[in-house]
Amino acid sequence: MGRNFPIRPATSADAAAIAAIERRCFSDPWPLEGFHEVFGLPGTVGLVMTDAEEPIAYFLAREILGTAEVLNLAVVPELRGRGLGAELLDAGLAAVRARGGSEVFLEVRASNIVAQSLYAGRGFQTEGRRRGYYRHPDEDALVLRLLMAPVRSNDGDGAALV
Ligand SMILES: CC(C)(COP(=O)(O)OP(=O)(O)OC[C@H]1O[C@@H](n2cnc3c(N)ncnc32)[C@H](O)[C@@H]1OP(=O)(O)O)[C@@H](O)C(=O)NCCC(=O)NCCS
Repeated sequence: MGRNFPIRPATSADAAAIAAIERRCFSDPWPLEGFHEVFGLPGTVGLVMTDAEEPIAYFLAREILGTAEVLNLAVVPELRGRGLGAELLDAGLAAVRARGGSEVFLEVRASNIVAQSLYAGRGFQTEGRRRGYYRHPDEDALVLRLLMAPVRSNDGDGAALV
């Protein structure tokens, strides 16, 4: 039987664990204070996937008036390539949709083919490019956009695509 990696809402109490994953996954990581700050802002949607209650992946987004931005998604390196990132992204998009989000944007490094493939598989489309958006190393960002059907009162919380 496969291992079970439950997903639960993240709070500021998870900031240190999330920042530790972030440092392992990104060459230009957000500092710990950045995570504390985002948990204090309205519209933040955070999820962690856990193994024996320890976060091994996280999803962070902000949703305001129907429009959301995925701030980050990461899975620890040793657990990649087994569907966890896709499962967590689906749960995150469902959570965004459940609170009224129907349009989702995100930025991704132009060289990050794995993430781009994941997002394309979920229906994200490339809308533009931000020149020199990233540091360490300097790189362009692709801006991706997803439209989801607005949630209706009798819907489940699935991330139905338009
Ligand atoms: C991007 C990331 C979250 C994907 O997580 P994951 O658990 O490895 O992904 P999954 O196993 O769920 O795979 C989902 C999709 O990603 C793509 N993918 C995964 N591994 C891949 C690989 N080695 N090569 C190409 N595409 C790959 C595929 O499209 C895959 O879908 P498929 O299985 O239907 O083909 C993970 O690689 C990660 O944390 N990367 C570092 C942080 C990062 O780049 N985050 C995104 C910032 S915008």
